[in-house]
Amino acid sequence: AEVPVLCIDGPTASGKGTLAVAVAYQLGYHYLDSGTLYRVTGLAMRRNGLEADAAHEMQIAELARTLPLRFSEGKVLLSGEDVSDAIRTEAAGMDASRVSALPAVRKALLALQKSFRRLPGLVADGRDMGTVVFPDATLKVYLTASAAQRAERRHKQLISKGISTTLDGLRADLEARDLRDSSRSVAPLKPAPDARLLDNSLLSVEQSVEQVLAWWQEVQ
Ligand code: C5P
Repeated sequence: AEVPVLCIDGPTASGKGTLAVAVAYQLGYHYLDSGTLYRVTGLAMRRNGLEADAAHEMQIAELARTLPLRFSEGKVLLSGEDVSDAIRTEAAGMDASRVSALPAVRKALLALQKSFRRLPGLVADGRDMGTVVFPDATLKVYLTASAAQRAERRHKQLISKGISTTLDGLRADLEARDLRDSSRSVAPLKPAPDARLLDNSLLSVEQSVEQVLAWWQEVQ
């Protein structure tokens, strides 16, 4: 039988990660945070002194294809080094967005993403899970929230980690990233035609989880 997949796509800081982790836990499924793969590729690009442009596209794609990546105890290891914090900065998010616009890089990460689809099932979050990576998913959710809400959440998240930022700066950053992600020519950020839209601006995490689990029941 085919392995069930639940996709959660949406813009930056819409709460995809929190929702996807909670739903995966409830269902006892595997979890793929596809953004991490682009973030690690961006970091590898920096460390190799490359720029995210067409001239370096093939080199960066090669880095992506051969990432010495491991996940262990909630940490992301690149060549054994814990890069969990390094890939979470705003600058790393911007680099991820830049490398992710390169078609060869997206192609290089495709097989790795598909390999996460294992029994008993997978919850995957990103920008193109429902449109490109798992077009035959059991359920596709497109998660949004207002830019103000998203900036505020990201702000709280960073403050709690002791990283100081301004709300205005964050909002400008995430709007710039969304614009690049939704206007690129390959796998742009957009809802799949068969996605269910969920605006969580006014919902608690628990309410969002409940909604997605209710939809999941519905499609069984
Ligand atoms: O989700 P996260 O913010 O970690 O993703 C970082 C960047 O990686 C996004 O801004 C986007 O450009 C890219 N990305 C993507 N496709 C995905 C997941 C992330 O292009 N499936």
